[in-house]
Amino acid sequence: MTQAGIGQTKRGYYGDYGGRFVPEGLAGLLAELERAFDDAVHDGAFQRDLDRLLKDYVGRPSAITECANFAEELGGGRLFLKREDLNHTGAHKINNALGQALLAKRMGKTRLIAETGAGMHGTASATAAALMGMECTVYMGAVDVERQAPNVSRMKALGTRVQSVHDGQATLKEAVDGALNAWMEDTDAFYLLGSVVGPAPYPEIVRYFQSVIGREARAQMLEREGRLPDEVAACVGGGSNAMGIFSGFLDDREVALTGVEPAGKGLQFGIGAHAATLCAGTPGVVHGFNTYVLFDDKGEPAPVHSIAAGLDYPGVGPEHSYLKDTGRAKYVSVTDREALDAFARLSRKEGIIPAVESSHALAYAMKRLPEMRGDQILLVNLSGRGDKDLETVLPMLGL
Ligand SMILES: Cc1ncc(COP(=O)(O)O)c(C=O)c1O
Repeated sequence: MTQAGIGQTKRGYYGDYGGRFVPEGLAGLLAELERAFDDAVHDGAFQRDLDRLLKDYVGRPSAITECANFAEELGGGRLFLKREDLNHTGAHKINNALGQALLAKRMGKTRLIAETGAGMHGTASATAAALMGMECTVYMGAVDVERQAPNVSRMKALGTRVQSVHDGQATLKEAVDGALNAWMEDTDAFYLLGSVVGPAPYPEIVRYFQSVIGREARAQMLEREGRLPDEVAACVGGGSNAMGIFSGFLDDREVALTGVEPAGKGLQFGIGAHAATLCAGTPGVVHGFNTYVLFDDKGEPAPVHSIAAGLDYPGVGPEHSYLKDTGRAKYVSVTDREALDAFARLSRKEGIIPAVESSHALAYAMKRLPEMRGDQILLVNLSGRGDKDLETVLPMLGL
């Protein structure tokens, strides 16, 4: 297991990014959470429970698949996928949801609160709640309730209450606002946050539970190919699947790390047309932590757009902001259209239907592979499967 706190320059901080800029009531809850987390990661029994769940319930380790058909006509490098889509509930989100739910149980909590965009974290939280006999309420923007309907049904079937949020743009930012407000009103509940964002210690906790992706992927590449990939790429919404896989390779300086953000309709159309926070944002505070943020002209978090509900957020994990500034990772963006083309290509060439979020990383692969030599390897984190997206995506593909 990775050490807690790795990647931080001081507790709660990644360079100037991160921190805990919250009202006093919330600060107390976060300090209590940090103590419980520290205690848990040093307890062998907690680790054994987590490892057992990841193996027997989630189905880990997830496979590594080489995609020769996808890469063939593009020419250039070889493409491998880390198959988080094969996890129980169909995405990487379950790694973190089970970890935090175990932590909640250990803290004696009986109620979970969560936010969700694409509904994958909501579904993972609802699943963990069902398994551990807890109550669960998931806050979800009304727009996302519409465009990710299959996941709303799944959450309901699992016994979770889905609370639709109608404020503002009614997407992920408003869902986080709703969940944070609910937590301040019900301080006995546990807030199960879904990405490497939010006030400390959430970015550290979520990274810790997602680091299993990078640990497995590194060992699998060594076992299979006898060497590390030349580059690792992942889509970035809040940044948890990317941080999960990057964490396994951060110390391997020869491995390039690339985060792929949603350019939506195109960065050239400015604020409101995309959600490419690291590519187009500026440092500032959102949801209680310091990071790159997309602001409007009044200095408020800006409206954002992406075809992918899970990437539609005006902030990003603080460690990504640090990795950008230090140059250890680079961040690029691809448009809705490019992501759709990659969705269709993987589905038809490989028989794997990707989540529209993950399709952003695949769209980058379509651009990058032709620039690589035939012996070079690009490893993409396939963060989730695309069943949830079919209703939205098929008409856009003319099907
Ligand atoms: C399949 C999938 N991939 C990626 C994301 C983006 O989140 P993160 O950047 O935290 O991995 C989501 C969020 O809902 C998702 O459902």
